[in-house]
Amino acid sequence: MEAKKIQKVVVLGTGGTIAGTAASASDHTGYTAGQLGVQHLLDAVPGLNDALQGVALVGEQVAQLDSKDMDHATWQALAQRCTHWLTQPDVGGIVITHGTDTLEETAWFLQQVLHTTKPVVMTCAMRPATALTPDGPQNLLDAMAVVCDPMASGVLAVCAGRIHSARDVQKVHPYRLDAFSSGDAGLRGWVEQGRVRWSNPDNMTEPHPQASQALGLSTADWPWVAVLLSHAGSDARQVQALVAGGVKGLVVAGTGNGTVHQNLLTALAQAQAQGVAVRLTTRCAEGQLVGQAAALPTAPAGLNAHKARVSLMLDLMG
Ligand code: SIN
Repeated sequence: MEAKKIQKVVVLGTGGTIAGTAASASDHTGYTAGQLGVQHLLDAVPGLNDALQGVALVGEQVAQLDSKDMDHATWQALAQRCTHWLTQPDVGGIVITHGTDTLEETAWFLQQVLHTTKPVVMTCAMRPATALTPDGPQNLLDAMAVVCDPMASGVLAVCAGRIHSARDVQKVHPYRLDAFSSGDAGLRGWVEQGRVRWSNPDNMTEPHPQASQALGLSTADWPWVAVLLSHAGSDARQVQALVAGGVKGLVVAGTGNGTVHQNLLTALAQAQAQGVAVRLTTRCAEGQLVGQAAALPTAPAGLNAHKARVSLMLDLMG
């Protein structure tokens, strides 16, 4: 690991498979996520103290959940704890342990609301801590290398030796250890034998203008924004039901280059006329919308539907 003059790194635990346990060491799927505390995870990393070369570690448990159940209140609490620690002059950066299932959404939320050039590095595991060869300890060690690297800034995700930006990271595989991709955008870098190799250091995103509202407003008052998939046999009643239920924003994951099933278009126009904000993105796993694909406003370039949902929710807090 490169020497760095930071004094302290804070590790915030939120649960996930990295903190999960199973009855058998061979069980990689039948486990319970979010069982072990953050200190336990740190204690399970051999050689961590040597690698840190004097950098102090503080562990804090912010949540303990399976990230499929991630909620806005936990996002708000996590962002507040990040803000608290990042404003301490001796804290050089934060590592967050998180489940893989919604890691990309939390990463994008934090990237949008934190005003920091210090690094916030999210990491995870695909195998529970009780597995014969768990991947969590190595991922945590790699995340430490990244957070201590002088070039690291903003919210990053580290898994299987690969570094992703918050904007581009996406879980693309339900089981394999290297479950994440940054798609066309490519990786931010790699961690190799404890050393960080960057691909492109200039990938910082500005905080969202509504960041302070997100941290101050009760999450009960955060606007309801839903994701709607356009698919064969799409039915306008889905849009109508969401509008009748009080939805404030809809992100439509369109087919291909943002085409939307004809059965949805009238209902979406009516939703817009009733004040519902509609944004279009693509359900394709890679690439982004090119040109004016449909008569709907597009989401910020390159965001998948669930990250576009985060951004629209923040937009609507203004
Ligand atoms: C979770 O997302 O909390 C469980 C799955 C995982 O971490 O891989």
